[in-house]
Amino acid sequence: MLSNDKKLIAVIGATGQQGGGVIRTLQAGGQFNVRALSRNPGQHRELADEVALADLDRPETLTAAFARAQGVFLVTNFWQQGADEFKQATAAVRAAKDAGVNHFIWSTLPNVEAISGGKFHVPHFTGKAKIDRIVKEAGFEHHTFVIAPMYYQNLVGALAPQLQSDGSVGWALPLDPGVRCIHMGDIRELGYIVAGAFAHAEQVGHGAYLPLVGDFMSFNEIVDTLNRQGHTFSYKQVAKEDFAALFPGAAEIAETFSYFQAHTYLGSDSNDRITLANKIAGRQPTKFSTWARLNVPI
Ligand SMILES: NC(=O)c1ccc[n+]([C@@H]2O[C@H](COP(=O)([O-])OP(=O)(O)OC[C@H]3O[C@@H](n4cnc5c(N)ncnc54)[C@H](OP(=O)(O)O)[C@@H]3O)[C@@H](O)[C@H]2O)c1
Repeated sequence: MLSNDKKLIAVIGATGQQGGGVIRTLQAGGQFNVRALSRNPGQHRELADEVALADLDRPETLTAAFARAQGVFLVTNFWQQGADEFKQATAAVRAAKDAGVNHFIWSTLPNVEAISGGKFHVPHFTGKAKIDRIVKEAGFEHHTFVIAPMYYQNLVGALAPQLQSDGSVGWALPLDPGVRCIHMGDIRELGYIVAGAFAHAEQVGHGAYLPLVGDFMSFNEIVDTLNRQGHTFSYKQVAKEDFAALFPGAAEIAETFSYFQAHTYLGSDSNDRITLANKIAGRQPTKFSTWARLNVPI
């Protein structure tokens, strides 16, 4: 039910992992009216107070998508075939500004090119970081950046353990398992940070960076945690060149791991940002061991 005295938040990516968490938290909190946006709104009628059409590749759909919204959450999907994140995000920023949106929250990632002095090329990170300036310079009354970690969910999805040539089940990755470098989290919990940011715009609406981090681990620690819970997963470090040839997109993943190993996922000391994000969320994010016990079946 829409209420006239609540601010309206429009959420791109509402049917996905990041936006889905945002929608669920905003709906449960009851402080805002929520508009879920999708390219196929008819298939997701139950998602939020309102469900409407938005296609980032068809900017003309964004005027109606953002109409009357005071807040917008934007995530773009690098992995979508043919997606141009810069073009999509620029169109969304422009449409939100034209619609009179006053708080824009962009799901960004670290600028790997800048952090590594041009050594590592990770477009799904750096491409998002390059959009930060567009958001900053658009002149919204409030804007906030959130940073998604490596999803715990990857470990039961795109990065699930595989049957290895020695008969074990586990991972063969181009990453030194002894290096603690992965900022991780339950991506469903990004919603607490985003909802908190919309609710505390004065505090974090002037360009704050809010990363979700439930745990900071090496791959050995990930495997040990799982194996203490009854699994028998293996880990083998493989050469970057061998991994990069395995499947489409593997080179990008291999380069991402090289960057993690050299600089960590967030690329710099982010303790103050993490502390602020947790304060704004009003809770501590779930640790990997707790998440794994519930979500990685024996
Ligand atoms: N996996 C990780 O560990 C990780 C970590 C940090 C960041 N990321 C980033 O997360 C992003 C993906 O987010 P996610 O995991 O939430 O994605 P997801 O679960 O795969 O869902 C993709 C979402 O994007 C929407 N979408 C795709 N193309 C669209 C378009 N043209 N117009 C409007 N909406 C569109 C889809 O909506 P409809 O289909 O309903 O239209 C869907 O809701 C990627 O850019 C990736 O780089 C991933």
